[in-house]
Amino acid sequence: MKKIRKAIFPVAGLGTRFLPATKSMPKEMLAIIDKPIIQYAVEEAKAAGIEEFIFVTGRGKSALEDFFDYSYELNATLMRRGNKDDLEIVNQVVLDPGQVIYTRQQEPLGLGHAVWCARHLIQDEPFAVLLADDLILSKKSCLQQMIEVYEKKQGNMVAVMEVSKEETSQYGIIDPESQTGNVIKIKGMVEKPTSQKAPSQWAVIGRYILQSDIFQELENLKTGAGGEIQLTDAMSKLLKRSDFYGVEFDGRRFDCGSKQGLLAANMTCALERPDMRTAALKTMKELIEKS
Ligand code: UTP
Repeated sequence: MKKIRKAIFPVAGLGTRFLPATKSMPKEMLAIIDKPIIQYAVEEAKAAGIEEFIFVTGRGKSALEDFFDYSYELNATLMRRGNKDDLEIVNQVVLDPGQVIYTRQQEPLGLGHAVWCARHLIQDEPFAVLLADDLILSKKSCLQQMIEVYEKKQGNMVAVMEVSKEETSQYGIIDPESQTGNVIKIKGMVEKPTSQKAPSQWAVIGRYILQSDIFQELENLKTGAGGEIQLTDAMSKLLKRSDFYGVEFDGRRFDCGSKQGLLAANMTCALERPDMRTAALKTMKELIEKS
């Protein structure tokens, strides 16, 4: 069995739900208080033993590349000021030389297309995909939980979470065959079905472990829902010749691709951080009293 060493971070979307903030800044640099959502995803991958970090970027994403790089001017200033704490914070972010690779998706043709853009960097290894806008707070890294299942089952994995009937039209939904504990054998997948057409209420969340065979399916794919090349469509095809499992992960997920989700993640983290809790509670109390 080949170890999962590489992870793809598709970050080439337009982030239209956050315009104008995302006009000149990648959505993945939006922060939960002081930490960009992409940093959470990279830390999750690191904790799961990922060694190569592949970012599929687009135009206007250079802030993201600079973020994971060494900043000589900032470091020199912090050092001159003797600001050791901040120096540690900025140095922690930097990925090791050769560990990080950037490739470009020239046009935002969909998540499936973004993953396909990394095919030459993956070659024939199994790999992980992490969507930073799905922020997952958990004791054990969500990707690590999936890798542990992968080590027993192999095949392909997606993270799944139960959603309400009304919400199925916002997600890829799996058609379950059987379930053992938190692992669900999948027999089908549909992108954004209506509640009447949804085969279950198990939604696919932005964490995947895929075999490189997915690239053959992506290669031949036509545009699907929303005029985009959908990863779900390629997975539905691969399902016919390869095993797929859903992993019901232990953790809290926030949809930081939506305004409400980003706000909820910020409020939650503020309440849970010792340095923020008192101030956050005070502000919330005052706002509730006034409203
Ligand atoms: P989303 O559909 O949530 O991102 O894609 P978006 O299109 O940027 O957002 P809105 O709907 O316009 O606000 C999920 C992930 O896939 C990446 C995004 O960057 C995001 O991390 N993605 C999406 C790409 O890399 N390329 C694409 O063509 C589409």
